[in-house]
Amino acid sequence: MSVGTERVADVETEAYGPEDGVLVAQDLRKEFGGLVAVDDLSFAVQSQEILGFIGPNGAGKSTTFNCVTGTYPPTGGTVYFKGEDVTGLPAYEMVHKGMSRTFQEFAPLEDRPVVENIELALAPNLLFTASGIGGETERLAREICRRVGLGDVMDQSPSELPHAGMLKQELGRAIATQPDVMLVDEPFAGLAGQEVQELTDVMLSLRDHGMTLIVVDHNMRGLLNLIDRAFVIQFGSKIAEGTPEEIKNDPKVQEAYLGGEEI
Ligand SMILES: Nc1ncnc2c1ncn2[C@@H]1O[C@H](COP(=O)(O)OP(=O)(O)OP(=O)(O)O)[C@@H](O)[C@H]1O
Ligand SMILES: [Mg+2]
Repeated sequence: MSVGTERVADVETEAYGPEDGVLVAQDLRKEFGGLVAVDDLSFAVQSQEILGFIGPNGAGKSTTFNCVTGTYPPTGGTVYFKGEDVTGLPAYEMVHKGMSRTFQEFAPLEDRPVVENIELALAPNLLFTASGIGGETERLAREICRRVGLGDVMDQSPSELPHAGMLKQELGRAIATQPDVMLVDEPFAGLAGQEVQELTDVMLSLRDHGMTLIVVDHNMRGLLNLIDRAFVIQFGSKIAEGTPEEIKNDPKVQEAYLGGEEI
């Protein structure tokens, strides 16, 4: 089936090919022993789209990220990135091909300032090249810090950052590898309104500069305000897909996600 951005998803017969998006998963599956965490999931992300991945705790969102980005090999299915079958490639190869991610739980090096933590993430790209010499990596790391809103605090230790600063730092580390596609796991966790808006603005600006983003978060208001399209999963399977407006009004989503409460 040929699909494009305007296509209406057919839940039963979905079949994507390598050219259907910058990132495509077809029948992606991950089992942990007897537990099926990702249950033959198919989706396609278009270039410069911001796709929201929504679902209750344990729905399989992070596991999907892990299978797509090479943290775990999937049990089954196919992942296409920029038209190429990349199923099961290790994470460093995915980074090399232009995909990066943030982690829900991350541990910066506390004895190095924020800017050096970003600089270390640049390392695979630049450290051993001519441009890694003469402070070029530091210059780039400082530029990334400013881009994610850490310009004033980049010489501090990560331990001095407020929670929002930690999340910005994690975003900065993922940006440092110069990805085309970035998977962002819970950027708004624990943030208040203004901070959510700051992170939103950073991600919108990344998209304006050509990046494609897939974002998971439980902050529905914040997420729906950021994304172009939502993909909703429960028990590792898709239950809905649509615009933020469509998702907000979908009774299946309200039931699965909030036990029937209004979003
Ligand atoms: N490494 C693992 N080994 C065994 N089971 C796992 C592993 N990682 C995840 N799971 C299980 O897979 C299911 C999906 O987990 P996952 O972390 O993907 O959910 P999630 O949608 O990201 O949830 P949350 O919103 O809480 O982050 C859960 O039942 C979880 O316990
Ligand atoms: Mg998760």
